[in-house]
Amino acid sequence: MNVSRMCSKLPHRNLFWKKKMNFGKYKIVDIGNISPMVSVPEYIKKPSYHETGIPSETVPEHPEIKNHEQISRMRDSCRLAAYVLDKVEKFIEVGKTTDDIDVLVFKTCIENNAYPSPLNYKHFPKSVCTSVNNVACHGIPDDRPLQDGDIINVDVTVYYNGFHGDCSKTFLVGQVDNDGRDLVKATETCLNEAIQMCKPGKFFRDIGALIEERAYSLGYQVVPAFIGHGIGHYFHGPPDIYHTRNNYPGIMAPGMTFTIEPILTQGSEMIEILPDDWTAVTVDDSRTAQFEHTVLITELGAEILTTTT
Ligand code: MF3
Ligand code: CO
Ligand code: CO
Repeated sequence: MNVSRMCSKLPHRNLFWKKKMNFGKYKIVDIGNISPMVSVPEYIKKPSYHETGIPSETVPEHPEIKNHEQISRMRDSCRLAAYVLDKVEKFIEVGKTTDDIDVLVFKTCIENNAYPSPLNYKHFPKSVCTSVNNVACHGIPDDRPLQDGDIINVDVTVYYNGFHGDCSKTFLVGQVDNDGRDLVKATETCLNEAIQMCKPGKFFRDIGALIEERAYSLGYQVVPAFIGHGIGHYFHGPPDIYHTRNNYPGIMAPGMTFTIEPILTQGSEMIEILPDDWTAVTVDDSRTAQFEHTVLITELGAEILTTTT
């Protein structure tokens, strides 16, 4: 996701999280050991940034309306991203490291002729983002074994046949306490309800208003620093999809593809970036959860592309 350029934070918000909350016992502070960067076989089609770390393809200025051919390719890459995420879901258990998850994602991409989009995107060193407990997003896979009670977001993006497909889920590791489970459930609810209201003629900004209100009603705050995005032959492009109240202009039209990827927190919505320049943690160590889908706007509504069914 992009780092939001806008902050819709209201002054009264910080009062809301002062209630007693169980933030969990497994706070991530230190960055673990990160294994060396892997190289991708010659025959895999690679995105513009794979060597330089800097994306250089032309990104449309406005939300793109995709044609039949582009939509068909988006379907393929999104289905593959969802397939990889399904594999991760079956793989996750206590004791597996986030690096083990990275290896699985890398291998599954290569086996399916895809490039794992995060790899060297703006110099990100791994094939997938793994964000545990108080890590809000962009966690870098390392040698930390998953512990009983962790919650972990795994964000998979693949580049296949010239197009990116992007999705994420938050998984429960072993026995997670009720506060953790509720947070995860609420986050998925917010994403699903946002997708359900999407259709031609709706404002992009309506998504943020809905998610913020729904999250509040369930007792959570939304992290405003990370936003959804248009996606296609580019990883990130217009429109910006805010997950909080906002004034972003523009309406949805058939043929648009974009992501929605809200992060909800038990505590303060403020985040800071660790010295690795990627890992975003909450300032108060509260746990967060995130879910993401890539959707296609159709004549009737929004179709989830990142699904295997
Ligand atoms: N998949 C993330 C998103 O939802 C982006 C990750 S960028 C990376 O937009 F470089 F960290 F991989
Ligand atoms: Co995304
Ligand atoms: Co993503």
